[in-house]
Amino acid sequence: MASNHVSNTLGEIVLVGGGGHALVVAEACRASGGRVFGVYDDDERCEAAREPDGAEWLGPLLSAGELARPWILSLGDLGMRARVIQRLGPHTPDAQRVVHPAAVIASTASVARGVFVGPLALVHSRAAIGVHAIINSAAIVEHDCTIGENAHLAPRSVLGGGVRIGPGTLVGLGAVVLPGLTVGAGCVVGAGAVVRRHVPDGSRVVGVPATPID
Ligand SMILES: CC(C)(COP(=O)(O)OP(=O)(O)OC[C@H]1O[C@@H](n2cnc3c(N)ncnc32)[C@H](O)[C@@H]1OP(=O)(O)O)[C@@H](O)C(=O)NCCC(=O)NCCS
Repeated sequence: MASNHVSNTLGEIVLVGGGGHALVVAEACRASGGRVFGVYDDDERCEAAREPDGAEWLGPLLSAGELARPWILSLGDLGMRARVIQRLGPHTPDAQRVVHPAAVIASTASVARGVFVGPLALVHSRAAIGVHAIINSAAIVEHDCTIGENAHLAPRSVLGGGVRIGPGTLVGLGAVVLPGLTVGAGCVVGAGAVVRRHVPDGSRVVGVPATPID
């Protein structure tokens, strides 16, 4: 269902990170006709390598600086992802976008390199998804939203039209952000929260309506 301008023509791809999120990314790669060549993780027996049709273990995470193939970040932890992005800086042009074929991407939306879009996710008109962001299973990104680098929209989170999500921000499982609001950089929106006001950089908010913790 992904529209043609962002559909994958995946060949061999390397996963950087081998935990639970890697299983989801690997599944989307296969569903898109790609093949997971191997996985970098600090644990040689990481989940992605242990699967029956598991990926070959290629080495620890930070040795991924020697990447010779297209790759995607498949770590779930945003802090760890940021460290790897810094490390792989010179190689970012090779970062591969992986869009599950059961995602819907509007023809006027843009999806940067290194982005993962999971099954049943919707990225609507004129939305812009920044590099290495995760639009997870069944997340809804309404029209005119802007998603920063390495942000994570968790499964079933919903952004109203024109929402801006800063870089490195997690919008938790099932959370809702009302239209036109900004959630700043490095924030955490707790699972199930309903955000009704702008959220400043570095904040953690939970609940309905969402209020700060810490
Ligand atoms: C917000 C969050 C990060 C806080 O985690 P934490 O730092 O371990 O905080 P704690 O569990 O100690 O909770 C701190 C307080 O916030 C409350 N709280 C935490 N998460 C909450 C949530 N989602 N909704 C409502 N209240 C929440 C706790 O009850 C606690 O309140 P108290 O101090 O009155 O007892 C976490 O609970 C959360 O929602 N994470 C999102 C996970 C997610 O969606 N991941 C994506 C997976 S794909």
